[in-house]
Amino acid sequence: MSALGSAVTISAAAKTNLALHVGQPREDGYHPLETLFLALDLRDSVTARMSPDSLRQKGGITVSVAAATGTEFQAMVESGLVSLKDIPVDDSNLAVRAAQAVCDEYGLNPGLELHISKAIPVAGGMGGGSADAAAALVAVNQVLAQLRGEQELPLETLARLAAGLGADVPFMLHGGLAVGRDSGIDLEPLETSGQLHLVVVPQVRGLSTPAVFRRWDQSQGIADCRLDRSAEHHPGSAKTRTTTTKHGPKTVEATVAATGAPSEIGCNCSNEPDPLPRELLSAAAAGDAMSLAPLIRNDLQAPAIELFPELAQLLDTGAQRGALAGWVSGSGPTVCFLASDARHAAELAQELRADHHHAIAVCGPVPGTRVE
Ligand code: C5P
Repeated sequence: MSALGSAVTISAAAKTNLALHVGQPREDGYHPLETLFLALDLRDSVTARMSPDSLRQKGGITVSVAAATGTEFQAMVESGLVSLKDIPVDDSNLAVRAAQAVCDEYGLNPGLELHISKAIPVAGGMGGGSADAAAALVAVNQVLAQLRGEQELPLETLARLAAGLGADVPFMLHGGLAVGRDSGIDLEPLETSGQLHLVVVPQVRGLSTPAVFRRWDQSQGIADCRLDRSAEHHPGSAKTRTTTTKHGPKTVEATVAATGAPSEIGCNCSNEPDPLPRELLSAAAAGDAMSLAPLIRNDLQAPAIELFPELAQLLDTGAQRGALAGWVSGSGPTVCFLASDARHAAELAQELRADHHHAIAVCGPVPGTRVE
């Protein structure tokens, strides 16, 4: 091993929400959710290593990003349909903030290099930025424990740091199948006995999560609730945060919210999200696609389609091609289709590709973060 220690590579899975029930926004602008997260075998990875700067007593975290070799995402980048430039390489990248949170926990300020290898669509509703953050938490934890010659921070500490970074990050740490409550950070993992087979169809442009939630607010007749005070009220964390945490479009949204005129805070709405039906949880846990199909529900689908009308046509196409169900993943715009088994998923993906869509056959549940 060199004086800098060895590099650590950790991968993390994409997610979709088999159910996403939204309640009316709280005082901090966040929406209470009842959601069913499913981790999918479409993985980003983050490599962390000490930088040569650390030998010169210089701190700071640098990040580089590349498309993962042999992935649909790489094909989309190489054909110029999506750009890696949409991914920030400064401290607005959530993986950098995750690495910094681990350094702070250790009380260290070392020079660190992160490299993100991407396969999960950017700003696509599949938790790509959150997956990178979860992978960075685990990777940097291992690098710093090695540096100190100490035990790593326990998973509970990483989970607390994850909750301070974003609503999806705690799930990305764990993976599998889990109910998420609160803003998504209060997790109840479910035991599973079967696999689900899906086709995911990424889009060439992203959607801003805050914009989709705001559209949902408008559909409910709720005034504009922004997270200007999120530094005071972040869910599950006493630590402050800013809203400039995600890839390009989300950063722009957050900047507008942070610099705009003081917006109305405190919608004082008490409507809680609908609870998840028991049948949904048991069908998903058993990998029973036929029973699951009619129970899939995403309250953010309608606002996502309003902002991205082409998604309606794609959902129709999937249904015509025999998908058991189709839905927009999270806040979109990636579309997911449920297949009956692995073979059906492979066939459906092939047919959608013949229709000039980018389609990837995947399965889940799979583990969240994993050493590579
Ligand atoms: O927590 P995360 O950074 O993933 O959230 C991105 C944005 O999505 C938030 O700033 C907020 O506008 C919106 N959001 C929300 N309610 C949630 C989760 C996210 O309003 N439960």
